[in-house]
Amino acid sequence: MFAIIGGSGLTQLSNLDIARREVVRTPYGEPSGALTFGRIGCCEVVFLARHGYGHTIPPHLVNYRANLWALAKAGGADSVVSVASVGGIRSDLAPGTLVIPNQIIDYTWGRHATYYEGGDSPVVHVDFTEPYDGPLRARLLAAAAKAGETVVDGSVYAATQGPRLETAAEITRLERDGAHVVGMTGMPEASLARELGVPYAAICVVANWAAGRGDSTHAISFDQIEGVLQAALTKARHVIEHLCEA
Ligand code: HPA
Repeated sequence: MFAIIGGSGLTQLSNLDIARREVVRTPYGEPSGALTFGRIGCCEVVFLARHGYGHTIPPHLVNYRANLWALAKAGGADSVVSVASVGGIRSDLAPGTLVIPNQIIDYTWGRHATYYEGGDSPVVHVDFTEPYDGPLRARLLAAAAKAGETVVDGSVYAATQGPRLETAAEITRLERDGAHVVGMTGMPEASLARELGVPYAAICVVANWAAGRGDSTHAISFDQIEGVLQAALTKARHVIEHLCEA
């Protein structure tokens, strides 16, 4: 069964036939909300809204450990697909584009980023060379092809701390570092999934030009984000509907 973690703008999956909801407790505290079990297209899925169903939890306060643990251990998910909105840094990644990233640079700090907290347990260093699961990425790409939606295969996701957006100079630095899109929730979500041994991939929706780029030269307009995000999320839902055939 797939888990879908919905990001900003995706607090519910409109094409999800809901079978039941389940409140899960975890050793790491409360997840962002109850797990929603159901079907999307032909897939059995468990859905969780990353920022809470009322969109009240900011990126730096999301309990990523509880969310991943709840989906994988209590929800029975054997893979996790993240839907996340991002800012476009690279010139071809305009608002409305769907991106399946293949790399991450982590700029977040102060988040609970591991299940291995020492104590009596041995030190563990998980391999994270390829932060996204290759076969799951391939399935997302195949699902997009089946759905007839254009997606960009591969890009470097910069995970920033938020909740504020970046300065133009910060975006220039991220670009120099090799980043193509920027978001606030990709980490530690991806590495926690790896620690749990659950395949994880993301479908990113470019909501806006990153600060200082395109029409965000002087400011990022939130009115504009909303419209673009909704249209692109409809495409992302369409891709997810085809996941189980891919
Ligand atoms: N920066 C960081 N995170 C984001 C952005 C952005 O421009 N857009 C959507 N999520």
